[in-house]
Amino acid sequence: MKALVLAGGRGTRLRPITNTSAKQLVPIANKPVLFYGLEALREAGVREAGVIVGDTAAEVRAAVGDGSRFGLRVTYIPQEAPLGLAHCVLIARDFLGDDDFVVYLGDNFIVNGIAGFVETFRVSRPDVDILLTKVPDPSNFGVAELDTAGRVVGVAEKPAHPVSDLAIVGVYLCTPRMHEAVRAIEPSARGELEITDALRWLIDRGADVRSHVISGYWKDTGRVEDMLECNRMVLETVAHRVSGRVCAGTRVSGRVVVEEGAEVSGSHLVGPLVIGAGTRVRDSYVGPFTSIGANCELSHTEIEYSIVMERSVIRGVRRIQDSLVGKDVTVALAECAPKAHRLVLGDHSLVRLDR
Ligand code: DAU
Repeated sequence: MKALVLAGGRGTRLRPITNTSAKQLVPIANKPVLFYGLEALREAGVREAGVIVGDTAAEVRAAVGDGSRFGLRVTYIPQEAPLGLAHCVLIARDFLGDDDFVVYLGDNFIVNGIAGFVETFRVSRPDVDILLTKVPDPSNFGVAELDTAGRVVGVAEKPAHPVSDLAIVGVYLCTPRMHEAVRAIEPSARGELEITDALRWLIDRGADVRSHVISGYWKDTGRVEDMLECNRMVLETVAHRVSGRVCAGTRVSGRVVVEEGAEVSGSHLVGPLVIGAGTRVRDSYVGPFTSIGANCELSHTEIEYSIVMERSVIRGVRRIQDSLVGKDVTVALAECAPKAHRLVLGDHSLVRLDR
C-alpha cells in the first residue's frame, strides 16, 4: 500500500500565513500538521509516499526531506496548479503503479491514526473505502449518503442542501480502479477535478464503495479557528516536561512543555502549553492552549489560546487571545510619540484592536 499525500493547494482561508508558507506546515503543538499525517501513515504500515507539492514545494521539501525521519520513502510530485484532489491522483499514476493506495489530505488531522481502517481495507478490499464523520455543518465538506448496510450510495461536494450529516474525512483508501475514474471525470464548476466526482463515477458503475464512520476527533485545519481548536486538543494530551530553564519567580500551573534552551523568568505559565526551543519569556503570562514556537521572544505580554510561530517577538501587549501569529512577526508597543497604531501587515491580514 502506497500513500499519496496532498500538500499543494492554496490555503486561501489561512491567509496571510499561506501567502508565504504551506498550510500543511502550520504547527499544532509546535509540530507541522503534515507530520502528524506522515506519522499516521507509517503506523498504518505504509512505507512509500508520494507527496503532491505546489507553489510551496521548496518549504515542504525542506521540512519533510527524503521522509526517512518518518520511516517513509518520499517521492515529490509537482502539481502545476491546484486543479483538484482527483487531479493529484491523475498526475501520480506512474508513482502509484498498480498498487493499492491511500490518499491523505495534508491539512487533515485525525486522532488515533488510520491503522485499523487500513487493516480492514487490506482484508476486505472493496474498490474504495472512505472515512466519514458526523459534523454540524456538512455543507462545508464532501457529504456521503449510505444505505442500511453502510454502503455509499451517493456523494456530493459541499452541497447547499446536504442529504446527511456525514462529512467525508480527507482519507481515501483506493484500489487501482480509482485511476479509471479520475481519467473519466470532467472539471467541476470551480474548475477542479473533484475526488467526490470520481467516487460518484465509481458508485454509478456499480463499484463497491464502502465507508467507516469515525467517532474520534477529526479536523480539517483549513481555517484559523480550526487550527486553534486542534492545537487545544493536542495540548490537552501533552505530558509535563521542562527541558529549558524556568527561573525562580515564575509560577507554573498545570502541564507545560518548556523545550531545550528556552528560558522563562518572572512569568506565570498556566498549562497546557508549549514553549519552543530557544524561546525567551520574560514578565509575561502565557495561558492555556498556547503554543509558542522556537526562538521567539515574549516580554510584558499576556497571551492565551493562541499559536505563535517561530522567531516572532511580542513585547508589551496585553492581551492576545484566539490568535495565530506567523513567523518572524514583531508586535510591540510604540516607544515614542505619536502613540499610534503603526501597522505593516501582509495582504489579507486580520487585526482586531481593543480600541
Ligand atoms: O477535509 C475534508 C474535505 O477535503 C472533504 O470533505 C472534501 O470532500 C474534499 O473535497 C476536501 O475539501 P477541501 O475544500 O477542504 O479541500 P482543499 O482544497 O482544502 O484541499 C485539501 C488538501 O489537498 C490540502 O492540503 C491542499 C491539497 N490540495 C488541494 C487541491 C485542490 C492539493 O495538493 N492539490 C489540489 O489541487
